[in-house]
Amino acid sequence: MDAMLKAASRGGMVAEETLDPVDWAEVQALSHRIVDDAVDYLRDVRERPVWQDMPEEVKTFFAAPLPRSPQPLAQVYGEVARNVMAYPMGNIHPRFWSWYMGSSNFTGALGDFLAAVQGSNLGGGNHAAALMDSQVVDWCKQMMGFPQSASGTLVSGGSMANIIGLTVARNARAGIDVREHGVAAIDKPLRFYGSDQLHSCHRKAMEALGLGNRALRRIPTDAGLRIDIGALRAAIAEDRKAGFRPACVIGTAGTVNTGAIDDLQALARLAVQEDLWFHVDGCIGALIAIAPENSHRVAGIEQAHSIALDPHKWLHAPFEVGCALIRDASAHRNTFAVTPEYLESTPRGLASGQWLHDFGLQTSRGFRALKVWMALKEHGIEKFGRLIDQNIAQGHTLGMLIEAEPLLELVAPPSINIVCFRYRGDGLTGERQKALNTEIMLRLQEEGIAALSDTTVHGQHCLRVAINNHRTRRDDLDLLVRETVRLGREISKSGTAR
Ligand SMILES: Cc1ncc(COP(=O)(O)O)c(C=O)c1O
Repeated sequence: MDAMLKAASRGGMVAEETLDPVDWAEVQALSHRIVDDAVDYLRDVRERPVWQDMPEEVKTFFAAPLPRSPQPLAQVYGEVARNVMAYPMGNIHPRFWSWYMGSSNFTGALGDFLAAVQGSNLGGGNHAAALMDSQVVDWCKQMMGFPQSASGTLVSGGSMANIIGLTVARNARAGIDVREHGVAAIDKPLRFYGSDQLHSCHRKAMEALGLGNRALRRIPTDAGLRIDIGALRAAIAEDRKAGFRPACVIGTAGTVNTGAIDDLQALARLAVQEDLWFHVDGCIGALIAIAPENSHRVAGIEQAHSIALDPHKWLHAPFEVGCALIRDASAHRNTFAVTPEYLESTPRGLASGQWLHDFGLQTSRGFRALKVWMALKEHGIEKFGRLIDQNIAQGHTLGMLIEAEPLLELVAPPSINIVCFRYRGDGLTGERQKALNTEIMLRLQEEGIAALSDTTVHGQHCLRVAINNHRTRRDDLDLLVRETVRLGREISKSGTAR
């Protein structure tokens, strides 16, 4: 007998290892405690600061070397509770309004937990999680008014959803088999179009697609920061004349700076007339389609060839989950499907289900659908629609509160739930006004009052509040205005630097 067989024959005596707990009862008790702590954590979120900086000992905790020997799970959890849970980004707090986040929900967190416990790989296959993944995509189609024949895929977020849409657009409009021959073989250079308010992920997409940033023409916007349709037409004509191939127009349903929504109906018409692919970046605003009072704002989205939307924003699913929808299912599949010999389908059994990896770049995929599915089932879509209306109404209320306060001014009238404003100061302008407003923003964060971000709109620096938050209440907005004015006065008196 060789050494391996001898070792195997001793197998019964060697204690084989596993990652499963030695004592299931102990792990059950600890898990109950973790869930209890998690419920308390969420219940009391309003009482804690929105954000706080980490003390030095917490920062050094994360420089500890690779652990080599075991440590009881209760201790590991203690470290997480002390060093991680106490210092969150803050986006589940009612007064977090920076950039553009969702505010999560507990049911979604349970969904993520159960998805991890089940551990299924959503690359595809014949199992319940895969059917649920497709069902959530179907529900997204229904929310957008897309036909049942369309296809889609759940991805990590809006940036990836946009890349999926733009990749299908490139391949469908290239005039050659890009997958086989590459972009260098395209006879006329492709041109994509979007407004000068496009999210930065489109630049990354153009670079990753091998088309390059310059192939994405930024079209000027009107006074409401919506794409100027006349300027778009002129740019397309100019490009055709110069020997380019206009391929795709990207409409934005909710720009990141101000929430402006392009005229999607006009873009849909133009795309037909100019024979362009019509993609909608709906990461912020596509879901307005389910909000009864505001759905008219995104009319035309249902005519797109592809849509990127973001359930981790206005459906408040825990990060990460985005969704790409493609009207022409075969164009979608033809862009990504590959069948290697080790992933062939079988007539029955585990490999008889659909291969979901055929609709995107990932092979292994997480079970993202469950957190969305559970929250949609629990609350129903109508409540999510009302919450979107609520945030938009809050954006308008905040706009009115700012207009009523002489020390503050709006930099752009709010169109949906994003409010851009600034502290006026006494005759302050330019860099000094920017420094004062930046200091207000930082102190609001550091004092744990509210998290805002800043941007530049119409060439003017401003503070920016994006109310994508199901916990925000009217008194939070009153508090923001009061505290901004207080800080503005204090900083004006004492100078900006701390
Ligand atoms: C308009 C727009 N597009 C795309 C994205 C990117 O989405 P994600 O952060 O989910 O990748 C965002 C993010 O806020 C956005 O506002």
